[in-house]
Amino acid sequence: MNVVILAAGMGKRMQSALPKVLHPLAGKPLLQHVIDTASSLKPSKLCVIYGHGGAAVPEMVSRLAESTGIAIDTALQEPQLGTGHAVMQAVPQIDESAPTLVLYGDVPLTTAASLRRLVEAAGSDKLAILTVEQANPFGLGRIVRENGQIVRIVEEKDASEAERAIREINSGIMVIPTRRLKAWLESLSNNNAQGEYYLTDIVAKAVAEGVPVVSAQPAAEWEVAGVNSKVQLAELERRHQLNIATALLEQGVTLMDPARIDVRGELVCGRDVVIDVGCVFEGRVELADGVKVGPHCVLVDVRIGAGAQIKPFCHLEDAVVGDKSQIGPYARLRPGTELGEDVHVGNFVEIKNSQVAAHSKANHLAYVGDATVGSRVNIGAGTITCNYDGANKFRTVIEDDAFIGSDSQLVAPVTVGKGATLGAGTTLTKDAPAGKLTISRPKQLSIEGWKRPVKVKK
Ligand code: UD1
Ligand code: CA
Repeated sequence: MNVVILAAGMGKRMQSALPKVLHPLAGKPLLQHVIDTASSLKPSKLCVIYGHGGAAVPEMVSRLAESTGIAIDTALQEPQLGTGHAVMQAVPQIDESAPTLVLYGDVPLTTAASLRRLVEAAGSDKLAILTVEQANPFGLGRIVRENGQIVRIVEEKDASEAERAIREINSGIMVIPTRRLKAWLESLSNNNAQGEYYLTDIVAKAVAEGVPVVSAQPAAEWEVAGVNSKVQLAELERRHQLNIATALLEQGVTLMDPARIDVRGELVCGRDVVIDVGCVFEGRVELADGVKVGPHCVLVDVRIGAGAQIKPFCHLEDAVVGDKSQIGPYARLRPGTELGEDVHVGNFVEIKNSQVAAHSKANHLAYVGDATVGSRVNIGAGTITCNYDGANKFRTVIEDDAFIGSDSQLVAPVTVGKGATLGAGTTLTKDAPAGKLTISRPKQLSIEGWKRPVKVKK
């Protein structure tokens, strides 16, 4: 099968410099949703027609082709003279012996299952159209039937009053016998209200030549909803998020409110996971059995171990959290953070590019960067690893059972030995030996007879 994706339109109503099909839905460009669905059907040819937006669309397509290994062709349509004219640009690239599926780059949520049904309905020699009954069909092409058989499609602007009353609309998605398609495209005229070469005109041509025209329907109306404005984009985003939320609920995930979750990537959950309101998941996020995520957390490319708890208002990116750990509230785990089992990271603690082993704690106000922290370590409030001298970064090593007193600065590269204790306020510039107390602050003293200054009267 060939797949041709039409994506040359300009999307004026988006009011944006970004080409319409590159606007993200659930964190992924509209066009990429369509390409992903199309490639799940394993087409022999996949061709994207682009026009508006300069090189941005073909650049995105070639990046995608490179990262997925899927062969995707592009063809430029310039100027844009209608949907029929758009498909014409793909003709030199498509394989005559297989049918052609036409998709729109701005219709992101069609399911592979619905497309498979359409492809099956078309077989090798029929024209199949994905149609839907709409309460408000305004602006769309209407399916004209006689004795139940499709005879043609008429566009809103060319339709009579009786035709405008038809509720069955053309989604634009069709499967067409390719050899016939080529001939029909060559014979299209633009003698219509918009002066465009309509792809939809091939339907009447098929009927005239005795080629059977059939239809299939998607499981839901949103599958054929297109994006022409930010309003429609926002509506479809909510629809898509609700679908994702429903799938999570069906798997047994507890969502405190399925209308208040955003998944912009892949969220994989174990059993008995609970997610509170306002959380955003990006990239690939794995939550193991029994994980609880509190309200308003952002998790990007992270793995959370079984029974761990992420308390409210945390930001985690490219990090691994061990089983039964407790993070937050207000914690930040930056890329390269790996926490072992039962690690506690409290409020206003930032950890970057560091490993922290089992049962260690940093409960309040700390920065741990480029550090290797052992087990059962206690990092006191206000502790900072000074990992950066303005030019280079250095590592801090804190061995098992060490105790770092509050408000200490560990000037890397430096090592705190096993079981060592740092007194509060230590500025550590040399290694602290294992098992000993190290303090760098001056001895406390009190001045006898000292008096507070008094204000001089003028
Ligand atoms: C088209 C159909 C209409 C259908 C509607 C569904 C035609 C003539 N009409 O309407 O029956 O109900 O879609 O949304 O086919 N495009 C190009 N090049 C062009 C023109 C369009 O690539 O020259 C692309 C657009 O980027 C878009 C798609 O084709 O992805 C549909 O174009 P659009 O203008 O939105 O649809 P209509 O022609 O109004
Ligand atoms: Ca449209």
